[in-house]
Amino acid sequence: MTLRRSAALCLLALPLSALAQTQDVQQKVEALLARMTLQEKIGQLNQLTGREATGPQAASRASQLADIRAGKVGSLLNVKGAADTREMQGLALQSRLKIPLLFGLDVIHGYKTVFPVPLGEAASWDMEAIEASARIAAREASAAGIHWTFAPMVDVARDPRWGRVMEGAGEDPYLGSQIARARVSGFQGAKLGGTDRVMATAKHFAAYGAAVAGRDYNAVDLSPQQLYEVYLPPFKAALDAGVATFMNAFNTLNGIPATGSSFLQRDILKGEWKFSGFVVSDWASVKEMVAHGYASDLPDAAVKAMGAGSDMDMEGEAYVNHLEDAVKAGRVSAAHIDDAVRRILAKKFELGLFDEPYRFSDPQREQAVLADASHRAVARDVAQKSIVLLKNENNTLPLAAGARRIAVIGPLADSKRDLEGGWVVNDVRGDVVTILDGIRARARGAQVIHAAACKPGCASKDGFAKAVAAAASADVIVLTVGETWDMSGEAKSRTDLGLPGRQNELFAALKATGKPVVVVLLAGRPLIFSEIADKADAILYAWFPGSEGGNAVASVLFGDYNPSAKLPIGFPRNVGQIPLPYAQYATGRPVLNEKDIVYRSAYIDAPNTPRYAFGHGLSYTTFTYSGLTLDKPTLANGERATLSFDIANTGKVAGTEIAQLYIRDVVASVVRPVKELKGFRKVVLRPGERQRVSFSIDRETLAFFDSRLKWTAEPGDFLLMVGSASDDIRLESTLRLQER
Ligand code: GLC
Repeated sequence: MTLRRSAALCLLALPLSALAQTQDVQQKVEALLARMTLQEKIGQLNQLTGREATGPQAASRASQLADIRAGKVGSLLNVKGAADTREMQGLALQSRLKIPLLFGLDVIHGYKTVFPVPLGEAASWDMEAIEASARIAAREASAAGIHWTFAPMVDVARDPRWGRVMEGAGEDPYLGSQIARARVSGFQGAKLGGTDRVMATAKHFAAYGAAVAGRDYNAVDLSPQQLYEVYLPPFKAALDAGVATFMNAFNTLNGIPATGSSFLQRDILKGEWKFSGFVVSDWASVKEMVAHGYASDLPDAAVKAMGAGSDMDMEGEAYVNHLEDAVKAGRVSAAHIDDAVRRILAKKFELGLFDEPYRFSDPQREQAVLADASHRAVARDVAQKSIVLLKNENNTLPLAAGARRIAVIGPLADSKRDLEGGWVVNDVRGDVVTILDGIRARARGAQVIHAAACKPGCASKDGFAKAVAAAASADVIVLTVGETWDMSGEAKSRTDLGLPGRQNELFAALKATGKPVVVVLLAGRPLIFSEIADKADAILYAWFPGSEGGNAVASVLFGDYNPSAKLPIGFPRNVGQIPLPYAQYATGRPVLNEKDIVYRSAYIDAPNTPRYAFGHGLSYTTFTYSGLTLDKPTLANGERATLSFDIANTGKVAGTEIAQLYIRDVVASVVRPVKELKGFRKVVLRPGERQRVSFSIDRETLAFFDSRLKWTAEPGDFLLMVGSASDDIRLESTLRLQER
């Protein structure tokens, strides 16, 4: 057989092996399903949080263990560690059909090694870094017996009052889609079954980030265009990347709870998108349909959620207590129950749990993997790439080599817990390198003096005098302020996005010393810090940077790492401007000049522009853009155009620029945003180096959902914009799309 034919046969065989594997799983699922009683099927749809052996849950632990033995529980969440998961799995294997449990956990940004919070990682615009972060989180969590993480959270969020903006990828559907793909790939790998990976979850389906007034769990009202154009794309990207599960959402969407939405779960997800995995409800969101006023009682909620395609009931105990009667009364179709059970069993087979139920619960592997020091180097790399240089007057940064005395001030400068941010769900965590630790380790001869000035939250000024005295004797002040870790995340909506406590006064007192003040801000969301923004000499936005945060901040402060991050969400000047997406509509009265706002779509007390724009982030060097070419100014059907330009590093140090491509459909059947991100490139350049960058543009790039929700590109002119930020466009061109 010639080489060519054998290669062809190999290629031919490849899909068959995947196909054969799918068929093998399906056959096993059908064979098992046929043996299951209705009660055993419903048991698979029941997920509970593991009851602690001590404390308030101890009383209900015994009955939970009995339910597991009886096959009434299909999955446990919040049980972690090889030993505990092995113990629980052993109970499940005492059930009649020995169906193994799935162990789920919120591994949102690391298990033992804590990475920057997801919004911080998003600021890196670095898909390899983001994938590496998820891969290591999966490696650590799977070694601790976890099969399934409830991540990535892919909710687009344009309202920083909403505390969960911290968990996502910011305001843009294009960037959010790239990041969703990277995170799913990092968590799951190429296919499920490896004991160093976990199933991922695209959550919260759908549009949870559009809660009215940024108040968590609040209603969502969206036009079909906004839903399809802004909030669904990252979910579809996660699905196309092979995400194993979806989690629905607490919110209503246009009056229907997402958990009870057949439109979302059956029409779109399982119908239009052909999703083959399963949907888990959010925590007790089935039960919450009673509080919403959508279900009359728990049995009614169970019927409505199952009918709408919510396969597994997380902690609601609605399915396990009421679905059997509902099926017998004909209120729930047995076919829907079977479909849900098939979806769940298929994942258990794909994970290899029927062949080796304990394969993820290996204490030796757990100990070895959690001790792997190489993970911290990756955490430091990701954290460095996430830190945004917002301001750098007179090249205050990097800290001058001659700085002999550095005053490290502020309530968060030596805090370990605040660097980790929210959603840290594992008690066994590595040490956190604080910002003070990092600066001390890197200062090399310079004297480092520290004064906290106040406790995290900074309620009291009592320590200010000592801090000011310390600062007055220094060459430069590094002030670390911001939110505490527990001010962002779930159920942490805020109406005031300012710095908590007396931190602004602390800044003013330090600034009054006349010394240069570098401000490092920690937060899980955009904050409003106008005086600091106006008067600080330099500002780094470090989010909550994780276990290696102190080393990462020090690397940037001393110039070992030249900051490259860009904001994944705009920063408002005040809460009154929210929502303030960069991708906004022109209106019939656009503001063309900030001085002429009479009868224009504007405020009389603030500009329409953000304090810091989506895509903003400075460097210690400078970049120029030039030599724009468009090889086809007119695009016929099926063609693609290439937009090219040069980026040059015109500064003295090497740096990374994230060049962004935006488009505007100038006239369309549905008004289009004044700009939409459609591409970006991270370009690393040495001083003086120049590189030509190209973007390929076709009909897909130019398409949008029209008034009938048809994905289409309409003929006409498109503005193509390339720049360093959404408010820093350097080059422009126009492309004409011809009739089909
Ligand atoms: C929470 C969150 C969800 C999380 C789940 C399990 O309420 O909404 O994101 O995965 O419950 O902890």
